Amino acid sequence: MAEIIDGEAVAAEIRADVRRSVETLREEGVVPGFATVLMSDDPASETYVSMKQRDCEEVGIEAIDVEIDPTAPETDLHDAIDELNDDPAVHGILVQLPLPDHVSEQPVLERIDPEKDVDGFHPENVGRLVTGTPRFLPCTPHGVLRLLDAADVETEGADVTIVGRSNIVGKPLANLLIQKGPLGNATVTVCHSRTENLAEKVRRAEIVVAACGVPELIDGSMLAEGATVIDVGVNRVERDGDSILVGDVAFDDARDVAGAITPVPGGVGPMTRAMLLYNTVTAASERSGVDVELP
Ligand code: GUN
Repeated sequence: MAEIIDGEAVAAEIRADVRRSVETLREEGVVPGFATVLMSDDPASETYVSMKQRDCEEVGIEAIDVEIDPTAPETDLHDAIDELNDDPAVHGILVQLPLPDHVSEQPVLERIDPEKDVDGFHPENVGRLVTGTPRFLPCTPHGVLRLLDAADVETEGADVTIVGRSNIVGKPLANLLIQKGPLGNATVTVCHSRTENLAEKVRRAEIVVAACGVPELIDGSMLAEGATVIDVGVNRVERDGDSILVGDVAFDDARDVAGAITPVPGGVGPMTRAMLLYNTVTAASERSGVDVELP
């Protein structure tokens, strides 16, 4: 039976480190500020944004909540970003995705000041990541690396299969895992919806990261005995008349084969949120010149 990797516990440790750094900044007169921008009435997006706001308040980061009518013209969103870029009290900006259909995503991501881009989605920050000189590590991939570290899983020389090629998870995670250095030096296969023989590619991996948004796609029969399984998926499904959350991995089945596995919820999700706090404090430290110690 696999070890369960407890994302809540690892995230709590990171939040404690962040809280200490916030205290250091505040003692020097710097109040870290984080702005969320929500242009959606999707209940899941609303929930994610309010959780991020609450996380900030818990660690002493000032949270600013900007809401834009989802039917408004995209220039309203552009104007809101410009204002936050110019506001010295704001160190980190997050525009919650997805955006409404009439709003183009890329111009929005490119409009955010790269020094405030705590998601790490601006092309400048993506480029820095790929070339091995990152400013902010994108939150979910960073969280995945921290979970592997906490579970004492060695990435150096490991065969890793990532299922999913999104800009938010699959692509940046693959880039991080192939970097030289700690938590890198892995050999990475990135699978996607057109991949042939997915099971074979998953089965040859010592570390599997599922980030494709397909409920319970990966089951025990696809895993190597003892593999480490990180499940990034969060899918709401109807089961026996109830609405429940499941990952991209069939947890109960995979658990019998894997060596270690993250649950959903309670695995990657809390880590993504913790790394956002980490990036916001890093941004405030960089902007103010006040050093903080963040492991
Ligand atoms: N929507 C789903 N995941 C994310 C994320 O990591 N950042 C933003 N901004 N929106 C998201």
